[in-house]
Amino acid sequence: MTRKIFRTKSINEFISETQKEGGMNKVLGTFELTMLGIGCIIGTGIFVLTGVAAADYAGPALVISFIIAAIACGCAALCYSEFAAMVPVAGSAYTYGYIALGEFWAWIIGWDLILEYAFAIGAVAIGWSGYFANIMSNIGINLPAILTNAPYAGGIVNLPAMLIIALVTWINIMGVRQSSSVNNVIVAIKLAVVLLFIVLGFSNVNPDNWHPFMPYGWNGVLSGASVIFFAYIGFDAVSTAAEEVKNPQKDLPRGIILSLIICTVLYIIVSAILTGMVPYLDFKGQAAPVAFALQQVGYHWGAAIISVGAICGLTSVLLVMLFGQSRILFVMSRDGLLPGIFGHINQKYKTPARSSLIIGIITAIVAGFLPIGIVAELTNIGTLCAFMIVAAAVIVLRKKAPDRPRAFKCPWVPVVPALAIIFCGILIWMLPVVTQIRFIVWLILGLIIYFGYSYDHSIISGGLFSGSMKPSGQHDDSPTAKNK
Ligand code: ALA
Repeated sequence: MTRKIFRTKSINEFISETQKEGGMNKVLGTFELTMLGIGCIIGTGIFVLTGVAAADYAGPALVISFIIAAIACGCAALCYSEFAAMVPVAGSAYTYGYIALGEFWAWIIGWDLILEYAFAIGAVAIGWSGYFANIMSNIGINLPAILTNAPYAGGIVNLPAMLIIALVTWINIMGVRQSSSVNNVIVAIKLAVVLLFIVLGFSNVNPDNWHPFMPYGWNGVLSGASVIFFAYIGFDAVSTAAEEVKNPQKDLPRGIILSLIICTVLYIIVSAILTGMVPYLDFKGQAAPVAFALQQVGYHWGAAIISVGAICGLTSVLLVMLFGQSRILFVMSRDGLLPGIFGHINQKYKTPARSSLIIGIITAIVAGFLPIGIVAELTNIGTLCAFMIVAAAVIVLRKKAPDRPRAFKCPWVPVVPALAIIFCGILIWMLPVVTQIRFIVWLILGLIIYFGYSYDHSIISGGLFSGSMKPSGQHDDSPTAKNK
């Protein structure tokens, strides 16, 4: 049994499966992938969670929280890039785990990613609903609180959150070309409003607001980092588009790293300006801190534009997250770990339409009936755990297959992956204990499903070097090698 659960799958097996008839359209390049990344990264984290993190945890040292979370994500992104260039398959971290660590760890990563994506979609939809209700009330339409909040958050159901998920699910089912171009427009709007905030806010910074800089000490800065880590989630979604990329060896690492760099720079500037415009304690309880800061310095028109832009930004996060989630389920199903319905490709739209529909329904239920705090923290812990396993997988695969062609190499292995593991570990440690317990329950549920279903249905047939792939310097006729 131990041998069975650690069975691995060869890189060639994964790649040849993607080329079977009925595969997805290959239409994405570096530009689209970078937009996909930004589309997924900038959202609730910067538009909603910055205020909470500044007021309750980090104070003006929020900038340092953003830098710490960026280091964790940067190291993880380099690990992701090495795998994404080597194994351009839609399963992302799940696939990398399969190749390097075997089926059991692949399942654990896949299960973590389901948590990451499903709950991130839920959290972002809830944030979307808050901004939507806010804009509606500004134009004189007050939506009833019982229909815009979950149970335990003052309502019965969060209807706008469910409806936006329904809309985005439909766009995803229509196909990647449409999703990608809709995404490009939305990302352009989102970047424009972030830049507008920077321009308007810059001249209204009062350096007095940066004192005291670290009111809650390093503990607060690290707790702040574990919360605003949410703002960086999404660069990994770029790798879930692997099977729809024109030249994955080059485009995927570029898309992942470029989108993360652009967002990191924007976050550092925005958080410095935000905490410089308004005393950090004023952000307490603010659902729209970026718009609030502009209102405080008299830019009401700017705040209105930011709110509309935030709605667009949050929509694009939903678009990419649903896209990524359906692709991960698709690959897990192709491996037999999940039922076949998740691997079915709609021949008309060339997308995993049924998978998209199922995930749309489940995430709509999460968004409609759970409060945002629980949902966002669970997203973070699931993602951090997946990042740690991917970093470990890079070290393991360098040992198992040192001469395997790598179109992109993570620098300073094992130092960079080790840093990713340490930083992500610290952020997990800083999350509330109740979140850690919930995560353990989620993992136990995953183990029950694995041993109750996936273990017997897995279709894995070979080891790391099965099929036509040969180790160390021998002929390798894989598409990965040819494209080099
Ligand atoms: N990073 C994404 C956001 O902040 C999930 O909304």
